Amino acid sequence: ASELNLLQKKILTDGVIKPGNVLKVDSFLNHQIDVPFISELGKEFKNIFAHKKIDKILTIEASGIGIACLTAVYFGVPVVFAKKSAGSNMDTEVYTTEVKSFTHNKVNHVVVSKKYLNQGEHILIMDDFLANGCAVEGLMDLVSQAGGIVEGVGICIEKGFQGGGDALRAKGVDVRSLAIIDKMDAATGTITFR
Ligand code: G4P
Ligand code: NA
Ligand code: NA
Repeated sequence: ASELNLLQKKILTDGVIKPGNVLKVDSFLNHQIDVPFISELGKEFKNIFAHKKIDKILTIEASGIGIACLTAVYFGVPVVFAKKSAGSNMDTEVYTTEVKSFTHNKVNHVVVSKKYLNQGEHILIMDDFLANGCAVEGLMDLVSQAGGIVEGVGICIEKGFQGGGDALRAKGVDVRSLAIIDKMDAATGTITFR
């Protein structure tokens, strides 16, 4: 087996497997943010997407914002985070899409002001987790409405067994995840990376 990378090692030491195939990484990513560590992940994303023209990074509130910002530093570009709005709205000033959350079993209306996504912009989509892929698909829809170009998708932790990442790759989307979990076992605390 190949050597574990920085994030994979961190997941093994600090991650906690919860029932229902949920991985808690609150100590460094989802509640407390280990800024120097996440910044190293940002540097990795810069290396991965170095050959691409990136004008802007797009993520979704809340947990995507940290990794997006700490990657944007290395690209020298702004971050836009889509907002989860309370209900549907007919606001002509925003692009709107629907994102199903399987984890929380509800639909979020997600919006971005038309001011901050523009035609012809090259967009890197980022998030902390990729599970079923609904959040990423929603963000791709927002970019498409604006006439932008999705250059790639950068994810910290992909839950490979939920299939969202592979479905996107099958459509030709350049999805790069620093850690892909193929299997988690809460009983034994075992995590298997792809
Ligand atoms: P999907 O977007 O890929 O389809 O996944 P899903 O609906 O299942 O994910 C819903 C939320 O749960 C997302 O955050 C996602 O980042 C997070 N999530 C999914 N699986 C895990 C997991 O195993 N561990 C952790 N820590 N998070 C997971 P969100 O509801 O949009 O909220 P926020 O945390 O970004 O504010
Ligand atoms: Na997230
Ligand atoms: Na989350």
